[in-house]
Amino acid sequence: MKKVSVKTSSPYEVLIERGSIKKCGELIAGITKSRKVAVITDNIVNEIYSKTVINSLEENGFECALFCFENGEQSKNLSVLGEIFDFLCDFGITRSDVLVALGGGVVGDITGLASATYLRGVDFVQIPTTLLAQVDSSVGGKTAIDIAGGKNLVGAFKQPALVICDSDTLKTLTPENLSCGMAEVIKYGMIRDSELFEKLENHTLENIDEIMDEIVYTCIDIKRDVVENDEFDRGERMILNFGHTLGHAIEGWHNYTGYTHGMGVSAGMCLITDKFAPELSERLKKCVTAYNLPTGTEASMSELLPYCSKDKKREYGSINYIVCQTVGKAEIRKSAVSEFERIMGE
Ligand code: NAD
Ligand code: GLY
Repeated sequence: MKKVSVKTSSPYEVLIERGSIKKCGELIAGITKSRKVAVITDNIVNEIYSKTVINSLEENGFECALFCFENGEQSKNLSVLGEIFDFLCDFGITRSDVLVALGGGVVGDITGLASATYLRGVDFVQIPTTLLAQVDSSVGGKTAIDIAGGKNLVGAFKQPALVICDSDTLKTLTPENLSCGMAEVIKYGMIRDSELFEKLENHTLENIDEIMDEIVYTCIDIKRDVVENDEFDRGERMILNFGHTLGHAIEGWHNYTGYTHGMGVSAGMCLITDKFAPELSERLKKCVTAYNLPTGTEASMSELLPYCSKDKKREYGSINYIVCQTVGKAEIRKSAVSEFERIMGE
């Protein structure tokens, strides 16, 4: 079993091993004295993995209850969060008990926020089952829900007590969902690790499973380093948003339907690289193409730029964006919004 120890304000371990979901009860028993666990998941993950998780928890003496909501981003809202609070209350969860987020980033984000706020804080364990959730959202403590005004606008920082990554669970993902996670993996190679990027160049979507544990470990270790340096997202952590400023704009332009976050990140990384490091563009585009990800978008820059002005990385009329001029190195740049728009619109 590979382990990454995350030394944030509240430290924890990320455990990476194929098949680890089957022994989650034993692993969770190691981080709590409580024997009461509320498992939160979505309907698709529920069908495939809840039984395994609940069996393992019960075999290790836990009393369990399960809350399941409809899969998809549209469930990451106040109304479902309210239902989760009522469920925790009915089940009699106390401050010393544990919540388990079993699923992708949607389940992780909303369960994390419930855990940050219910009784002013209850421990939670992440069992991420998408590649995006394993390499990104389950680690680092960002939790959130969406409101009418935008995605992830209401949230809290709450580090999990434990993260259990079983890359075998990624075998049941749709190819589109696996590609979506690969966009974040390529991002880590671009911002911090040229060796990782080379490994990705030597694989495709068809054979990437051969090195999946190694990839998950490498990405989590990069995220650990960034988050330890800037837990509350005031500086360096922004590099994790390479490709995201334009990516979010493209997702918004598509009305968040039929266009995944990973597709947006992939196109966003390519568009920003076209402008600021054109000599790297072909290499990046070849890599994303091997994972069935787009290299651009049909939306024009003038259509996308209004969406960038809603970006959370914007402050006082300026915008932060991330540029990689060498594979493995990222820099944060700050420009007046008008200057960013001028450069991108050229
Ligand atoms: P998701 O949670 O919606 O999962 C995608 C789909 O895959 C869902 O339909 C789900 O039911 C299904 N699924 C999950 N695991 C599966 C499996 N093993 N087999 C088959 N199907 C499975 O989406 P996601 O891409 O995992 O996460 C996106 C969310 O993560 C967004 O809400 C985004 O805002 C958030 N996010 C948060 C952070 C953070 O730091 N907190 C970082 C990045 C993204
Ligand atoms: N996913 C970006 C971050 O955790 O900061």
